[in-house]
Amino acid sequence: MELAAARAFGACALLFLASVASLAAAASLAAVKYVSEKEGWQRAWTHEAMEPLYNASLYPDLAVFRSRIRLLSGLGLANQLRRYHMNSSRIKRGTAVVVVRGGRVTGLTFEDFNPAFRIRLDSVVSELQRHQDAGAIRLEDSVFILNTRDVPVCSLGYCLVPMFSPVKEVRPGGKSYNEDLLVPLMAYPADQLVVVEPGDKLPRGGIAIHADEPAGSEGSCRWFVRKFAKPGGAAAEWIDVLEAGQLLKQAAAEAGGGGGGGGGGGGGTEARKAMEVAAGERPVSGMAAYPAPAAALARYRVALSCDAQAANPGLAGLLASNSLVLKGRSNWAEYYYRLLKDGEHFIEFDSAFATEMVKTAMLKSQAAKYASIVEAAQRFAYTYLSQRSRALYFEKAISEYNKLFGEGYMKATVADLPADRPLSMSDILALPMYPSAWRQGLA
Ligand SMILES: *[C@@H]1O[C@H](CO)[C@@H](O)[C@H](O)[C@H]1NC(C)=O
Ligand SMILES: *[C@@H]1O[C@H](CO)[C@@H](O)[C@H](O)[C@H]1NC(C)=O
Repeated sequence: MELAAARAFGACALLFLASVASLAAAASLAAVKYVSEKEGWQRAWTHEAMEPLYNASLYPDLAVFRSRIRLLSGLGLANQLRRYHMNSSRIKRGTAVVVVRGGRVTGLTFEDFNPAFRIRLDSVVSELQRHQDAGAIRLEDSVFILNTRDVPVCSLGYCLVPMFSPVKEVRPGGKSYNEDLLVPLMAYPADQLVVVEPGDKLPRGGIAIHADEPAGSEGSCRWFVRKFAKPGGAAAEWIDVLEAGQLLKQAAAEAGGGGGGGGGGGGGTEARKAMEVAAGERPVSGMAAYPAPAAALARYRVALSCDAQAANPGLAGLLASNSLVLKGRSNWAEYYYRLLKDGEHFIEFDSAFATEMVKTAMLKSQAAKYASIVEAAQRFAYTYLSQRSRALYFEKAISEYNKLFGEGYMKATVADLPADRPLSMSDILALPMYPSAWRQGLA
């Protein structure tokens, strides 16, 4: 029944599109500028520059395991896969193992891996490899489990080894509901700042939503937007709801036509292909849909972001734009959220007050305050959220994760894996407690 209701809202959203089409067309005349290098601003492309982010997110995630007496081992890795991942077909179909050996990155999956999650694994493998090959990172040999679903796996005390995950729930005080080790998504680059001249922006709020995606529970951010921003709804005067699939299709076409810049970074044709595919796909349970291009929302003075089944992966792109970001209250967190501050980089809202907040953001008296929030957000995105900074975060996560197993353990474990044929999941499931070099040492 809930699904039927969601579909009905979806249909409304589509109808609504027709009515805002003329507005959107007017706004699309405003030029969108992409900025790759900003004078005076620094990218966090060293571990030293990344330290605030490690302090806020990586180290707390690791501390959970560091404080445990339980010994981390290859056997623990295999047992975790066997006991937990292989017992639930839903988890199993979103589970990958990443092996790094001699600077080569390989992704392994079970035979029934869900192809919808492939973008998450492939982007990690190819982006880490690209930055490794370019000399921007030096990955240590390692074997780790990568959760490709937007569903955290490690309930408190459960995981035998850290699980690399894209999202988990974090309480307002910073305490987590899950013990997953958050790592960056690599699938949706937000490398460039996205700028529309303030005078060219629509004096309204905009939000992009996939028409088929569930609206969420009553009172949630998405639910509110669908209910009140639809034609004739109480918020329609202030908030436009755009269809994300359509925006992706447009962006892919523009990028294909040599318009350039549509993807906002990374590999241009790769990004275009991904957007084309995403535009035609139905949302998948267990994974947030491909985010709409930030450029579409940069045309609004205010861009709204709602989490649905998990954190909105489009938030990074919105922070990189020069629109004020209003973010619906939610416990979902990606790896960088614990460094972001409400009132400094974005403004948090309760769904019931969204309209009020958009209205307030249009007041001249608020202009200076909001301009400084917009600048802080763009600076944050520029500093920490590029693909290269994300690759660095992975490099650090891997070396700190390796340390938990003990000096030299991972290197010796990887050295034991077969080298004369492609690796498979069964090789990981066969991992022993100690690598052979250690057993000889112990004997
Ligand atoms: C990170 O945390 C360490 C230890 O608490 C502290 O010494 C260091 O100054 C912090 N770094 C930053 C950039 O905040
Ligand atoms: C998973 O399966 C194993 C053996 O197949 C069993 O011992 C274990 O209790 C199961 N775990 C859960 C959480 O169901």
